[in-house]
Parts: sequence; structure tokens; C-alpha cells
Amino acid sequence: MEEPNYPDLLVCDDGTPVRDAETWWRRRVPELWGHFEAIQYGRRPDFGCLDVVPVGVWENPFGFTQVDRLEFRSGPAVHLAVFWPDGEGPFPLFVGLNFRGNHAVCSDPNVPIDPSNPAPRGSQENAWPIELILESGFALATAWYEGFCPDDPGQAGRLHASGTTALACWAEALTRIRSVLSLNPLCRSEQTIAIGHSRLGKAALLACARDAKFAACVPLQSGCGGAAPSRTSVGETVADITRVFPHWFLPAFATYAGREAELPIDQHALIALCAPRPMLLLNAEEDTWANPAGQRRMLELAKPVYSLLGSGDVVEWHMRPGKHEVLPCDWERAIAFARFRLKERTAPPRRLPC
Ligand code: GCU
Repeated sequence: MEEPNYPDLLVCDDGTPVRDAETWWRRRVPELWGHFEAIQYGRRPDFGCLDVVPVGVWENPFGFTQVDRLEFRSGPAVHLAVFWPDGEGPFPLFVGLNFRGNHAVCSDPNVPIDPSNPAPRGSQENAWPIELILESGFALATAWYEGFCPDDPGQAGRLHASGTTALACWAEALTRIRSVLSLNPLCRSEQTIAIGHSRLGKAALLACARDAKFAACVPLQSGCGGAAPSRTSVGETVADITRVFPHWFLPAFATYAGREAELPIDQHALIALCAPRPMLLLNAEEDTWANPAGQRRMLELAKPVYSLLGSGDVVEWHMRPGKHEVLPCDWERAIAFARFRLKERTAPPRRLPC
């Protein structure tokens, strides 16, 4: 099959070649951001100032749990659960939103139940192996994604009227969580990793691309609108995703269905906006909807930007047997990746992309 004509990341829209890091940061990055913001994800929502209201801190069998209520003055109020390992710290930290509420991530009876989410307590434990994460010396921060923006196509009008999208809201949630925890002495803030599955993997990738203070990113099975190409005949297409999930993207993105070749961007650009920070794309063989091979191609096409920025080979793609879900073995791989890739990285990149 012929390779689609993906935009060249190292050529500006007006044809100027990008031959050095300076041109990348000053010219190409704002240009690519401009396209993602105008066509696909919209602007960052303004959640406003944040009040943190402590709910409780208690021991769990592997370390301790801290729950705070995050009250954004012009945004949502949500519970943030942080699981800290035993020891003095500071600890590297995974930040990821969850699908069914903090109480579903673990069976700890102290974690407040989100009343708007009926998932049984502990029902997502397999996807969130807290014992493994904490015993590996990592902390984990998580919050229920719909607390930040309901995952409801009926929200499209409201979001679009303010120039934003649900994915932009979830990405903003990750950034605000990262930011508030960076003030906590237990957190090794320069080793904070954005992680997420599927639609929340799309959000993790967007958050990392937009927020240079994330040290690395692990999108799992993120698919269309995440690490998989929009120019594709495999798996989910722009037409599919914008029809079912109009609130995830701006209306402009839907107009590219069937004419993706005219997009001035593709998802290799979103990965490249994370450069020079490490990236691990996790996939599952049976999850063809998320187009694992296309994701691999996007990663390959982002590599010249990593080379330009002098970061070497810090991007990885992995496929395991099985279907669309998160398993403890995915976390094992994410932890091994983070340990290996972040060991030399004690500071965020000098230049901020936005
Ligand atoms: C649907 C959607 C995907 C998304 C997935 C999920 O399958 O089409 O784009 O990644 O839901 O979030 O589970």
C-alpha cells in the first residue's frame, strides 16, 4: 500500500527548512500548535485558580494514600487520589486519569466514592496495579476523568462555543494535577510521567505535547486522535471518531473526513511536540481499531525531530498479545521504560514549547 503523504515536520508551511533546534522552537513549534489548536483539539480551557481541600491521608498495605479535593474557581471540583510508596522520597510520579472513579481504582474503603459514578469499588484494580507501582518506587496520582468534563456528545455545543474540546479539558486536568503535585516535597517533579489508556491516552499525549514539564509520556492504545495517523484506511478514521465523539474535537476536524491528505498536520507532529522527552507507545495485537502499525509509523516519522534536538533514541513502541485493555504487564513495561529513560534526566528541557 502506498504511504500517505504525511507533512514533513522539518519543513515550515512556507517551505523554509528546519535545520536547527532554534528554527524548530521558534518557527515550527508555534506553527504546528496553531494547527492542532485551530483544527483538532481547540484551546486550553481556563479552570481558574485552584483551592486544594485536604480530605485525608492514611496508610495502605503498600505505602499511603492521600485524597484532596481540587476546587477550581472557574472549573470543576474533583477528588484527586495520590498513592505514595513507603520511604522518604522524593518519588517519580505517574499522572493518569481513570475511567470509573478513584474508588474503582483500588478497594481501599477510605477513598471517597464519586456519587455520580456507580462503578463498584475496586472494579478497575487490574488496570491499576497499585502494589506493583508503589513497590517499584513510583507514586501514582489519579482522578476521575468525567469530573473534569463529562464524556457526552451533548457537551459538544458548550465546549465548541468556548473554543475548546473534551480532550483539551482532560489534558488540562493532567497538567493541573502535575502542577499542584510539583509543590509536594514527596514528588520528584522533574520525573513526572503522563499516562493514559485509549481516549485518556490521547489526553496524555496532548498534555505532554503541550506541557513541557512532563518528563515522559506513555499513551496506551491511544489510536485515532492519539498516536495513530489521521491519514489511514486502517482502524478508526476521522469520519468514525468525529461522528461518535463530536465533543472530543473541534468541528473543523470533522470537515477533514475523507480529505485527510489536506490536513497540515498528522499525529507524528503531536509526538514530535513532546521531543526531546521519552515516549512509549503501548499496543495490543487484537486492538486493530487503535492501528498499532500506524502508531509505529508516526513514531518513526517523529524521530528526525528527536535527532535534531539531540535526544537520541528515546522513543519506544511495543505490542503485546491481547485486546483493548490495560493489564499489569503494561504497567511493568511502563515502569521499566520510566526507570531506564528517566535515570539521566533530572531536569525538564531548557526551552518550553509553549
Ligand atoms: C472508542 C473510540 C476510540 C477510543 C476508545 C476508548 O473505541 O473509538 O477512539 O480510544 O473508545 O477510549 O476506549
